[in-house]
Order: sequence, then C-alpha cells, then structure tokens
Amino acid sequence: MDDPRAAECESWKCRRNPDSFTFLKTTRDPPSLREPWYTIPWMQSEVIQTDLTPTAVATPRPVALVTGASSGLGRDFAIALAQRGFDLVVVARREDRLIALKREVASKYAARAMVIAMDLAVPTAPREIYSIVEGSGLEVSFLVNNAGYGLRGRFLDVPWSAHADFLQVMVSAWLHLTHLFLPAMRARGYGRLLHVSSLASLGPEPPGSLYSPTKSMMTSASRALRLNLLKTGVHCTALCPGFTHTEFHDALGCRAQMNKLPKYMWMDSRAVVEAGLRGVEENRVLVVPGAFNKFAACMCKLLPYALTSKLIPDAVLREHDAVR
Ligand SMILES: NC(=O)c1ccc[n+]([C@@H]2O[C@H](COP(=O)([O-])OP(=O)(O)OC[C@H]3O[C@@H](n4cnc5c(N)ncnc54)[C@H](OP(=O)(O)O)[C@@H]3O)[C@@H](O)[C@H]2O)c1
Repeated sequence: MDDPRAAECESWKCRRNPDSFTFLKTTRDPPSLREPWYTIPWMQSEVIQTDLTPTAVATPRPVALVTGASSGLGRDFAIALAQRGFDLVVVARREDRLIALKREVASKYAARAMVIAMDLAVPTAPREIYSIVEGSGLEVSFLVNNAGYGLRGRFLDVPWSAHADFLQVMVSAWLHLTHLFLPAMRARGYGRLLHVSSLASLGPEPPGSLYSPTKSMMTSASRALRLNLLKTGVHCTALCPGFTHTEFHDALGCRAQMNKLPKYMWMDSRAVVEAGLRGVEENRVLVVPGAFNKFAACMCKLLPYALTSKLIPDAVLREHDAVR
C-alpha cells in the first residue's frame, strides 16, 4: 500500500460500494501494478487473470454492452459477441451470474468483461452505467438493449409501483442508454444498436397486459431511430423473437402453463441471437427469427385485428387469469 496508485485503487473500491445498492463490487485486491491496464478500473473488479499478452492489450478490442446478460438471450448475446472478438460490459442485477459469465468469456475467448450489477428499474441507473463506462475510457460500439421481463396478472391486479418499475425497465431505461451511448457512435461513424423486442409487439395484446404495448414502443422507436441514423454508420435493429427457451417464463412463474404450448412454437436462444446479430449487421429494421414466428407475424399483418385478437394461445390467456 506504499504505492500511491494502490491507495487510489483502494479508495476507488470504497467509492464504488455504497451500502444502499451495490452497483459494482470489487471482489479482489488491487491487481499487480505491473499490469498495463492497471489504470482501467473495470479490470480491477474481478479476480480474472486472462492470458492476454501486452500486444493484445495494446490493440483494444471493440466493446459491446449487453443488458440482461445474467441469463437467457442476454447471456448468449454476450458469449456470441465475445466469440466475435468483442470485450464486454455486462449489466443485470445478479452479480454472481455476471461474474461467472466474465470468467467464461475470459477463459474461452480471452475477452475482458466489466461487470455492472445494476437494477434498471432505478431511474438513475442508465446515467450511472454510462458514467462508469465513460470513466473507464471504454468506447461502446455495440449496444444490446435486452433486459426485460413480464408482469403477471391483468392491469388492475398489479400495484402501480410494479407497473412503474416495469415501464422504467421496458421503456425508459433502454431508450436512456441509447440516448447516452449513441452520440459517440455517430461521431465515430460506427455503431450497432440491437433492441430485443418481441413478436408480441407485432400482434394482438393479451388482455390487460402492458408487455405487448411496451414492446410495440420498442419496435416502433427502433424503426424511427433507424431512419434517423441512415448513412451515419450506425445500424439499428429491432429483434422480435417469439417463445424462446430462456428463464423468462420461470421468472414470470408460468413455466408449467407454457410447457403446454407445442414445440414448434419454441426456439433455441442461440438461434435467436445469431439471427439478431446477422440482422443488425445487414442493417435490417426488423428481425423475426424462425419460420413459425415469421408466419405468425405475417398473419398478424394480413388478418384483421378482430380475428387475430381471438388467436392468442389459450395458455397465454389462462396465464394472465391465473393470478386473479
Ligand atoms: N423468452 C421469450 O420467450 C422471449 C420472447 C420475446 C422476447 N423476449 C425478450 O427477450 C429479452 C431477454 O429475456 P430472456 O428471454 O432472455 O429472459 P431471462 O432469461 O429471464 O433474462 C432476462 C434478463 O433481464 C434482466 N433483467 C430483468 N429485470 C432487470 C432489471 N430490473 N434490471 C436489470 N436487469 C434486469 C435479467 O437479469 P437479473 O434478473 O439478473 O437482473 C436477465 O438477465 C427480454 O427483453 C424479453 O422481453 C423474450
């Protein structure tokens, strides 16, 4: 601790660990001061010793920020991007999961990952994430706005505080993150925005649920942004998956009900991720992965609402009634 830089590191650890909600825990002693990236705080946040050579550090990899990276699609996005040569900033509430992910991408792909354990329902979260990333000197060139969840029950069955948190995560937080990270992407003439929306944004709304309306907002805002970004080098794509094997329905508490849906309605998470990454590279406005989902999206466009609103799967309708 004689070295002043070590003292600085210690004070950084204190600053970043408020008791109220820990948004970035340091979990080890300061790294060896000989490490060339010593001054980058995010490298101090976990006990990962990658075999990155000084040469690799001298040639920085592009950086992708993935929200909701602790499970499901977000985790698979993070892995696929690390595999493609990105370093990562991974955001979610379950820090232990993020740290496990950090270890995995370090050992498999020599990718570095900054772990930010943050609740996106807190209105200041996007600004804090931006400050941490910006303060670390990282340039995010790929933003995957993926974090999301469903709320059980119909409109009046859910207290307003739960709706408010939901709207914050599903509408405000991702738009705010985009608003913060987009200017630098535009200035550099390169950026990728991938918004994980849903097939639900293109079809009829299950009664009393705000999930489809928030996803419609995401799809619609992605379309508007993409037009705004043409010829800037920044691509913007809305990914609209249908039922996908992740923890989404476990978190919602309706796994048993959902298991009654036929297998052809479901997709593997990695296939959805690959379709999304391909789509954003091709600057497609909308990606609906999978044959069944494409068919359903097409039907929702062609058929009148009076008919499609009667085609919502029974399992979904019963699920919303289950908590009444
Ligand atoms: N699975 C499907 O059938 C399906 C279909 C269409 C669209 N989608 C969309 O795909 C996206 C990813 O979901 P998934 O299917 O991969 O489900 P998942 O496995 O449950 O993952 C959801 C992710 O979002 C994070 N998250 C939720 N609330 C958060 C909050 N308040 N603050 C920060 N992070 C939060 C979760 O992390 P923590 O819990 O650790 O915070 C988790 O990493 C969502 O936007 C979802 O709406 C899913």
